[in-house]
Amino acid sequence: MQGQDIIKRIGLDWPIFQAPMAGVSTPEMAAAVSEAGGLGALGIGAATVDTAREMIQKTSNLTQKPFNINVFCHRPAQVDPALEAGWLAQMAPLFARFGASPPKSLNEIYASFCSDSAAQQMLLAEAPAVVSFHFGLPDAEIIQGFKSKGVFLMATATSLKEALAIQAAGIDAVVAQGWEAGGHRGLFDPDAPDAGLKTPDLTAELVADLSIPVV
Ligand SMILES: Cc1cc2nc3c(=O)[nH]c(=O)nc-3n(C[C@H](O)[C@H](O)[C@H](O)COP(=O)(O)O)c2cc1C
Repeated sequence: MQGQDIIKRIGLDWPIFQAPMAGVSTPEMAAAVSEAGGLGALGIGAATVDTAREMIQKTSNLTQKPFNINVFCHRPAQVDPALEAGWLAQMAPLFARFGASPPKSLNEIYASFCSDSAAQQMLLAEAPAVVSFHFGLPDAEIIQGFKSKGVFLMATATSLKEALAIQAAGIDAVVAQGWEAGGHRGLFDPDAPDAGLKTPDLTAELVADLSIPVV
């Protein structure tokens, strides 16, 4: 599928994709981008299932055009009481400085879509035109569930290795996310070696080596 085909297949007028931003995206902004002929996007990685459903339905009420829903697919956090106690002890003086007491334990801040069956069911039921995965990929049956509903799938890659895994999983397009994306770069494995490629260099490498389109 070449560049023009992906634009046609999603049903856009322009090859312009709004970057999804968890905690920042709004239905109004996503709908405005889609209404203008680009691909509006909502980042729901930091939202509860109910809030995410409301955001998606509000966007659907504002535009009949396709938009993208982006979810976090990080590896779920592993509880490590000794490590967490160390962090809490390290932070204790800061809490004290502001007259507060540190929490007794730490909670996972964002549930991973990969292990959140309520989020999976909600998004499969809403079936937006486009779904994109960030920080990794969900299991094959989740990917298959979206494909059987005709949802166009994308996933962010920061390296050729991640992009090849995305292509092998049957995802329709890769989003090249270079070093410039900073704190929200969708690394699959934060402990793996990282060449820190810039977006133009990463994009050139992916275009040369992949058969699926690169956004
Ligand atoms: C505040 C903020 C939140 C972001 N949240 C997400 C997100 O939820 N999902 C995602 O795929 N990318 C997220 N990103 C990364 C953007 O999608 C984009 O890749 C990045 O900003 C680089 O694009 P730019 O150079 O056009 O800004 C976020 C970026 C920012 C600044």
